[in-house]
Amino acid sequence: MTGVDLIIFGASGDLSARKLFPALFQLDRAELLPSDLRITAIARDQVDVDVFLEGLRQRMNGYMGSESPSDAEWQHYSRHFQYVGADFTKGDNYSSIRETLDDSRVSLFYLATPPSIFALICNNLANNNCLTGDCRIVLEKPIGECLASSKEVNETLARYFDEASIYRIDHYLGKETVQNLLALRFANRFINSQWDANCIDHVQITVGEIVGIEGRWSYYDRVGQLRDMVQNHLMQLLCLVAMEPPNSLEADSIRDEKVKIVKALRRVDVDQVAEHVVKGQYSQGWSSGAAVPGYLEEAGCERPDSETETFIAIKAHVDNWRWAGVPFYLRTGKRVPEKLTEIIIQYKDLPHNIFSSGTNIANKLIIRLQPREGIELTMASKRQTLRDKLSLQNHTLDLDFRETTGMSRIPDAYERLFLDAINGDQSLFVGREEIEESWRWCDELIDACNQKNIETKPYHAGSWGPPKAELLIEKDGRSWHV
Ligand code: BG6
Repeated sequence: MTGVDLIIFGASGDLSARKLFPALFQLDRAELLPSDLRITAIARDQVDVDVFLEGLRQRMNGYMGSESPSDAEWQHYSRHFQYVGADFTKGDNYSSIRETLDDSRVSLFYLATPPSIFALICNNLANNNCLTGDCRIVLEKPIGECLASSKEVNETLARYFDEASIYRIDHYLGKETVQNLLALRFANRFINSQWDANCIDHVQITVGEIVGIEGRWSYYDRVGQLRDMVQNHLMQLLCLVAMEPPNSLEADSIRDEKVKIVKALRRVDVDQVAEHVVKGQYSQGWSSGAAVPGYLEEAGCERPDSETETFIAIKAHVDNWRWAGVPFYLRTGKRVPEKLTEIIIQYKDLPHNIFSSGTNIANKLIIRLQPREGIELTMASKRQTLRDKLSLQNHTLDLDFRETTGMSRIPDAYERLFLDAINGDQSLFVGREEIEESWRWCDELIDACNQKNIETKPYHAGSWGPPKAELLIEKDGRSWHV
């Protein structure tokens, strides 16, 4: 098999202009795209490829700013493209798509479309002889909105593609710093030997965003922050922190270990859900110095009494030998003060403190995934003074990835994911079982919240969620890092 054809459905959509085509462009700029890669852009407009590309370039420039392509770079990039104007929801439009396919090359179908039409596109591809060669399919989240609907999507996919040809994206896995978690844990012996309930007091995972719901009211209101962020991104981070060492970097080895963690997540007990879950919804407030509306005043609001959560904090437990008794505090929200993704590993206090001041400074490992990507380790050292004998103070070892690697930019997640899909490497894509097990856990949590009528509490835009989110951790004698 020689060469790959990347066929993008939904080529004029927002995701394509904002993320997909800029990522492919960056790969071309870095000379990492195979020179014979053909990109077939499919969208409704009946225009020729030059008109499509001109429009695309303008939109990309709007998103890429100073990283926008020069004329020469754009010319180089453009040579990969062909364009098909077709309404891909209609089966009779597929003859023009079939004409562009070459069964002696790999066809990589990328569905940058609403999930509601995944099944329709697969059917249309199959009914129009488009799946006759070596085919792979790449899908965006969400894969379903609950366990039952995710099974439906997965079963439809399984009718046409085997699991080894299905690439389900969770773009967090493509982030350089998320992959670095694997390196941190499994390439540093001293870290791995201290990575369990004997040494670690608790783990915090925070994913905060300054933005609100960005014009997606009707979609977002159906899902909320648990389904939009926890079921996928936070779950993946939790798995990478908690999993056992895989025996290789092969996709199956990594997925097998992640699935074990999702299965070991303690089911949320209905009687304890009020102690373990806090939900919030932002009201009017301030964001980056400007007044912003509350969730229910956002453009497109269809249910002024909606209780959909835009913030959620959860105390979770992984019930296995390594993590027995170690809480995992998860927290994610829209319109919080900072765009921040970080994992905090809080080590236990010393078992016996011999130092004069009585200060017991526990180590803390801070893994900053975005922004200012890097790792910090707080360590105790001697205070430099003759006044006290051996009193302690905190010092931080700070490994800033941009500074230490000299990289001017950290590649976007989609750059890694495109490269891997083109090269047939599934290790950073999500397997069926992980997704379904994660939905099972989330469905049970939602169910428990409903049974106990867990209220969605208001919080001001620009704050870290409702005060109860602080209490969730403070009642255990701990506090959020930020
Ligand atoms: C998406 C969610 O999956 O991730 C969005 O649907 C969210 O609601 C986005 O804003 C966050 O991604 P990132 O890469 O900006 O942290």
